[in-house]
Formats: sequence, C-alpha cells, structure tokens
Amino acid sequence: MIDRTTIDRIMDAADIVEVVQDFVSLKKRGVNYIGCCPFHNEKTPSFIVSPAKGIYKCFGCGKSGNAVGFVMEHEQMTYPEALKYIARKYGIEVVEKELSPEEQQQNDDRESMRMLNEYAAKYFQNNLLNDPEGIAIGLSYFRERGFTDEAIKTFGLGYSLEKRDAFTEHALKNGYKLDFMTRTGLTIVNEETKRRYDRFFGRVMFPVYSISGQVIGFGGRILKTAEKTAKYVNSPESEIYNKSKTLYGLYQARTEIVRQKKCYLVEGYADVISLYMAGVHNVVASSGTSLTEDQIRIIHRLTDDITVLYDGDSAGIHASIRGIDMLLAQGLNVRVLLLPDGEDPDSFAKKYGSEKTIEYLNTHEEDFIRFKTRLSKTEADKDPLKRAAMITDIVRTISVIEDQIKQTVYLQECSKILEIDENTLYSELMKLRRKKIMDGKGPAGQSFPSKPEPKLPEPKQVPTATGNKEIGFLSKEHEIIRILLLYGNKEINNPLDHNRENPQRLKAAELMVALMLQGNITELRNKVNQQIFKEISDAVINGREISEKEFINSPDPAISSVAADACASSYELSKMWEKHGSVYYKEENKLGEIITDVYRKYLLEIRKDEKRQLSVELKEQMETGKKLKSELASLEANGNSEDEIEKLRSEATEIDNKNIEILKRINEITQEIKELSITQGRVTI
Ligand code: CTP
Ligand code: MN
Repeated sequence: MIDRTTIDRIMDAADIVEVVQDFVSLKKRGVNYIGCCPFHNEKTPSFIVSPAKGIYKCFGCGKSGNAVGFVMEHEQMTYPEALKYIARKYGIEVVEKELSPEEQQQNDDRESMRMLNEYAAKYFQNNLLNDPEGIAIGLSYFRERGFTDEAIKTFGLGYSLEKRDAFTEHALKNGYKLDFMTRTGLTIVNEETKRRYDRFFGRVMFPVYSISGQVIGFGGRILKTAEKTAKYVNSPESEIYNKSKTLYGLYQARTEIVRQKKCYLVEGYADVISLYMAGVHNVVASSGTSLTEDQIRIIHRLTDDITVLYDGDSAGIHASIRGIDMLLAQGLNVRVLLLPDGEDPDSFAKKYGSEKTIEYLNTHEEDFIRFKTRLSKTEADKDPLKRAAMITDIVRTISVIEDQIKQTVYLQECSKILEIDENTLYSELMKLRRKKIMDGKGPAGQSFPSKPEPKLPEPKQVPTATGNKEIGFLSKEHEIIRILLLYGNKEINNPLDHNRENPQRLKAAELMVALMLQGNITELRNKVNQQIFKEISDAVINGREISEKEFINSPDPAISSVAADACASSYELSKMWEKHGSVYYKEENKLGEIITDVYRKYLLEIRKDEKRQLSVELKEQMETGKKLKSELASLEANGNSEDEIEKLRSEATEIDNKNIEILKRINEITQEIKELSITQGRVTI
C-alpha cells in the first residue's frame, strides 16, 4: 500500500503534459495541448490535454482522466503500478505502508524470485549473443528461423548452455540463493544425490513476462528435431508464475491490443514472435494449455474483440471449438481465422511476409458462430443423422451469449445458413434456457422474454458526457454531476423564490441538492455518480466549497475519470461558444433554469422507471392473489378446517391491500409523470 502523503506528492508532481508526451506527440493550442488519441485510431486530432486542470480527454472516443489514469489506461497498469511509474519519472521515493512480518517476508521472497528470473533471462541472452556455443547453436537456430535482432531483444530470447549445471553454478557464484533457484524451478535438486541440475540446458529460451514486464517463467525449446525429449520444457508453476493467468506475449502486445481494439490469439511462442515480426503486434498465445477463464478475463480488460487463429489442418478445430463458448459467455466478440492447409501463423508469416500476412488477416476472419454453423452444416449434410445433434449444439453456443439482441440476430442468421425455420431454433433455445434455470445454472440477469427484467443492469463503462449514448436516467445523472462539478460554487438567484425584487441568492449546488431532497431522491443509481453526489451533498450541507480538483485527483480512477470528463466539457462548451456565439455565456447565466430543468428530466426518468418496476410487481402479486383465491375456493368446497381457510383468507386480503397500495402509488406516479412531461422542454440550450 502506498500511503496517502506519497500519493499526494506524486499527484502534485505529475504534469499531465509531460506524462502524456512520453507517449503522444502534442501541439500547443491556446491554453491546452492537442494530439492524436492513443486509444483509438484517428487521423485528425481530437485528444485534448489541459495542463491547468491536469486532465486529458478524447472527444473522439470519450476517454478521460488524470495523469495516473492515463498511465493506467495506456500502459495497462494497476493504480499502484501507475503511481510508482510516475514517482520514478519525478524521482519521488515511494513509501509503502507497513506490512506484517509474514507479508513482508512473502513480498521479499517473491521479489527475490523475480530478480533471479530477471538475472537468468539476462544470463541466457548473454549466452545467445556472446558465448561461442550460444552463437554457434542458439543464435544460428534463431537465424535459420528468421528471427531478427529486434525480435530477439523485444522478446528477451536466449540460450541455455549444454553443460547440465552451467546456470546453477554461475548464479550461486554470483550470490543467488539455492532456495529461490528451486522455487522458480530454474534448478532441480536430486533428492538422493543432492546434486543440482539446471532445468534448462542446451535449449533456446523464451522468457515469459507478466503484464507489467517482469520475467515470471521460461519456455525452452530443444534444437535437435529428432530427439525423443519433449520439444518444449517449461518452468513449473510457482509463487510468481500462475500459468492459467498468463498469456505469452501480452506484455509486448498490451498497448497495441488496446489501440487496435482487437486481440489475436495463437497457440505458440513462435507464432507470436513471427506475427510480431510481420507487424502484427496485438497477438498473444495461450502457450500449450487450453484457454482459461482467467486468461479470457485478462484479454477482456483490454478489448471486446478477439480473433482466434487456427492452423490449416482442421484436426485441432473441433477440439478447441468447445473452449470458444467460454469466450462468448464472457461477452467477447469472437472471430476465427482459418489459415491455408498445412500452415500455422508462424510458417504463414514467414512464407508470405508482412504485407500479405496483414492483408490475409484483414480479409479472412469470420464470425465464430457463423463459422461453426457452416462447418456443422457441411458435416451434417454428409451425415443426416447428425442433424438434430448439430442444431442443439449450435443453439447451445448461441445460448451462452448474454446479450439477448445479439442472440436474436444469431438465431436469424443461423436459421438462414442451416435452412431451418427460425421458430424451431427459437423454441430449442427456450428449452435450453429453461433447463439452465431449472438446474440453477441460469446466468444472472437473464430471464424469459415474457417476464420483463425489473432491475436495469449497471452500465459496464462509466458514462461520459459526450461519446457514448446513454439510456434514460444515466445521461441525466451524468448531466447533474457535470453541472455540480463545473458550477456548484456559483451563486445564483433561487428560481423557486418568486420574490422578483429581491430574489434569494444561493449556490448552484445548494439548489440541486435541495431539489433532489424535495423529490425524495437520496441516491443516484450509478455507483460512481452516487459517490460524487454524496460528497457534494455533504459539502453543501456543511457549507464547504466544492473542489473539482479533489475529484479529478481522487485515488479512485472511476471517480477521477468522471470528474475529468465533466470538467473537460467546459472546453467543449467554450468551443461551441466560439462557433455559435453565446452558448457558454448562456449556460453559466441560466444556471437556475438549467438546474431545475435537468432535475425535472431526471425525476421524470426515475419515475418512469419506478412505474415500470411497480407494474411488474403488481402483475406478479395479482397472479399470486389469483392462485390463492382459487386454492381457497377449493379448500372451502372440500370443507377443510376453518383455521386453514382463515389463514389463507387473511393472506389473500393482505395481498389485495398491498395491491391497492401499489395501484395508488402507480396512479400518483402517473399523475406526476404527466405534470413533469408538460413542463418538459421549456429550457433548451
Ligand atoms: N508446448 C509445450 N510443450 C510441448 C509442445 C508445445 O509447452 N511439448 C507449447 C509451447 O508453448 C508451444 C505451444 O505449445 O509454443 C505450441 O506448440 P507447437 O505448435 O508444437 O510449437 P510452436 O510454437 O509451433 O514451436 P515450433 O514452431 O518451434 O515448433
Ligand atoms: Mn511452429
């Protein structure tokens, strides 16, 4: 943990322009700087950096934040990693909070293991480039495979000497502890003879990096093809190497995956490196193991789009197709790309070179479900008995997609490809879903189409004032936050006070908070918005000033991003002002009206949503009531005990009463909605 004082010092030192400029070339434009956004592809710059506010904002893709947020996003670092990065840049010493002796020991051990791995990677590379055996055997092997010096450097490739304990002895001589050497798996100790051996000897070495660039393990490839030993030897799992959470090449690919909004997935070390040399930098490998959920989650943090590259021989396809359902279930858009017969990504890139490879990748990928459907159809045409199984199989794949709109589109497409009635597929899908729910395996938030979903899902991304389209109250909520942050401290005439001569003066934030209290709105729905709103309400109640800077520099990147986005919109408005005259001027001076208007619009959306929820509740209650009454009737007809009948009767009455309450509330809301709708649209900016 980094303590608060250090965080503040780092925040104070961080100059947003200097930090961004390490990655993006910026030009001064008035008080701000402008450049091409590193987070999406663009030719005309729409990426603004404001040194005064300490924020960046892209008006193309909507990304925004402070210096730490920028480093996190660009370098795919965690919050503490980004803080440490900036601290290093400005020569600030990072004081971490005290850990317990055990935690400290564990941290120290892990750090020692990483340092040892780092040392080993350097040692192996030195062998490759400077040792006569390394040059003659290792380097010439890489040369034969066409690996360039640049690739060797980028991926830290190396060579382990044939002598069975060369590394172990060398490392011991240089003061590294045997304990860490065995814990990283670099050294193996024979229990009986106590002799120490290198795990890797006479192999070319592929270091495996963590996402932040630390060496956590190795893969070593044998050179002589005819040998019986395994082609690859890999580091074992260790305290620092968790294979199911590691993707080979991710450290080198991460920024490009984010920038291109796409990740290629291949099988092996060589595939990653060859594609990298061909100019395809957004590529990672699952390295021998089948893809895990953790690996998918890691990719998903960077992009929604993944393309899986398959070797030409279709033997592997069927085996790995199952794993892809997992990708779909996590909401990724999955495409597949089939290479020509007999080629893997490595051989293809070598054979055809950069330009043709990139063109092939750009033109040959296909949506996974469509691909699978076509593949199955070809097979079912050969064997009609398989047809029913095939339909179930395809529908099962479609059923894992959580997005129901996507599901519908896929059903339509597959019905066309398979020449099967859409309704047949649909009822098959319903069957599956019902079964899943019965088994208790139904994904959260999914329900039958006949039963409307009462709760709206939390938006995945923090909404921005520009860019993303937002649903109903979320966009209004965001507008509320924007006004509070931008103009909260401004004194205005109270629009609720009709004393024309001498209207009451109050702060814009006070008006907003008062209105919300009046409407009995105590919480905003989006978590981040709510946090900001709560702090502002507290400030209003305690008579404190609202400081946008405090929000921008919040340690919570979600808050900082929303705040930066809100503050950047004043730039947008001033731009509009230049174009159309007095827009900016107007917004500040009509604050009272604008606030009442935004509040009303928000209230309207909230009430509409409330009404929707109440209607669902009412419908359910009425059904229960109906059931109870028919039960009651049959009990009475059968002459059951009075007690039992009485109990049911009072239950039914209770439900009736509750329904009346709900109905009343619905009527009230309906009236309120009517009134709110009438006063809508009076103020337009
Ligand atoms: N692999 C492994 N152990 C093996 C074989 C394969 O760990 N005995 C892993 C390696 O990570 C390898 C990946 O599976 O990169 C894919 O295997 P393969 O296609 O056989 O290797 P390539 O990367 O194509 O290696 P090369 O081209 O050097 O043969
Ligand atoms: Mn290969």
